[in-house]
Amino acid sequence: MAALGQYKHIFAVADGNVLDKSSFLRSMANGLAARGIPVLTINASEQGKVMDTVLEICTWLLENGADRDALVLAIGGGITTDMTGFAASIYKRGVSFAYVPTTLLAQVDAAIGGKTGVNFDKYKNILGIIRQPEFTYLNPHVLQSLPRRDFLSGAAEMLKTFIISDNGNYAKACDYISSDNNDIASLEELIEAAARVKAEVVSCDQFEKGRRRLLNLGHTFAHAIETLARRRAEEMTPSQAGSQAPEYDITHGEAVSMGIIMAARLAEAVSAENEDIIVEKGLAATLEADFRACKMPVDCPFTIEEMAPIMKKDKKAEDGIIHFVLPLSIGNVITLDLTATHVAELMK
Ligand SMILES: NC(=O)c1ccc[n+]([C@@H]2O[C@H](COP(=O)([O-])OP(=O)(O)OC[C@H]3O[C@@H](n4cnc5c(N)ncnc54)[C@H](O)[C@@H]3O)[C@@H](O)[C@H]2O)c1
Repeated sequence: MAALGQYKHIFAVADGNVLDKSSFLRSMANGLAARGIPVLTINASEQGKVMDTVLEICTWLLENGADRDALVLAIGGGITTDMTGFAASIYKRGVSFAYVPTTLLAQVDAAIGGKTGVNFDKYKNILGIIRQPEFTYLNPHVLQSLPRRDFLSGAAEMLKTFIISDNGNYAKACDYISSDNNDIASLEELIEAAARVKAEVVSCDQFEKGRRRLLNLGHTFAHAIETLARRRAEEMTPSQAGSQAPEYDITHGEAVSMGIIMAARLAEAVSAENEDIIVEKGLAATLEADFRACKMPVDCPFTIEEMAPIMKKDKKAEDGIIHFVLPLSIGNVITLDLTATHVAELMK
């Protein structure tokens, strides 16, 4: 990675699960060792995505003599990049950091745009800071060892990006994902296109006052789905939990997939009562068929009545108003301010 050449003092933080996953990642680990770059391995899990782990990274940086000129390099999925970016942002009031994302989700989403953070109390990503990495190194070869389920989670964020800004990429991405294609060059093109869309949107609205909100397509529903799934899993007795009900084992990308379909249905319901909002005929059904073909989940296991009270408390709600993102057609989405109660009525 030539980009590292200009940094004298590099400290790497890696997901302990990834460095031995493929020959590419092994040779990267060997390259770090050959240059004498210290590596801290962490256990990347949503439960471990907390301040304690961030402080562990800061302590390690301190013990290893990291100074203001340090570059902290994160190697892993979104959990690792979010926590490492946050630790680097508060260590000595902020040192430089860079990312080598190793999941599709992190390559097209988490490692671009500068959002860092951790979970706190019952809230996801509620503590954090927006600060940009020096660079994000995207290499599709690191994804070869990624389990299919994690790949599809990232694919949901990729399709979301192309529904927001298409340029012909949505259909290409659907073809690629649904055909189980392993062609690295096609994947590289799609990752680059999705990353460019995200970078372009963020560059004109880093702090999410307007255009960046579009990237939340499907996410208000997704966050409610994730919260309910977590609650249901916690409510299960130990014997039930042993055979965890599959409908409550939901990744972020899977929740986003269901959330996008719900957003399309909401767009159609809004359009039926507001003639100024015109949705392409059959859009929700088209998206649903495409997502099913990609083997991404589309059926939400919760009712809208169960989801509404959670959406009301969404961290992005302002005075009870949520900026819902509605797809009108592939490549054309808008935001519309609605209350969760109104959404629940529209989607009954
Ligand atoms: N900062 C942002 O803008 C942003 C955006 C979206 C999501 N996120 C955050 O990202 C996180 C989810 O990211 P994720 O899906 O990348 O999760 P993750 O980091 O947990 O990675 C998913 C799993 O894949 C494994 N893994 C990673 N790379 C691998 C590889 N190359 N081969 C084999 N296994 C590999 C990991 O060990 C883990 O088990 C969430 O915490 C979410 O809040 C942040």
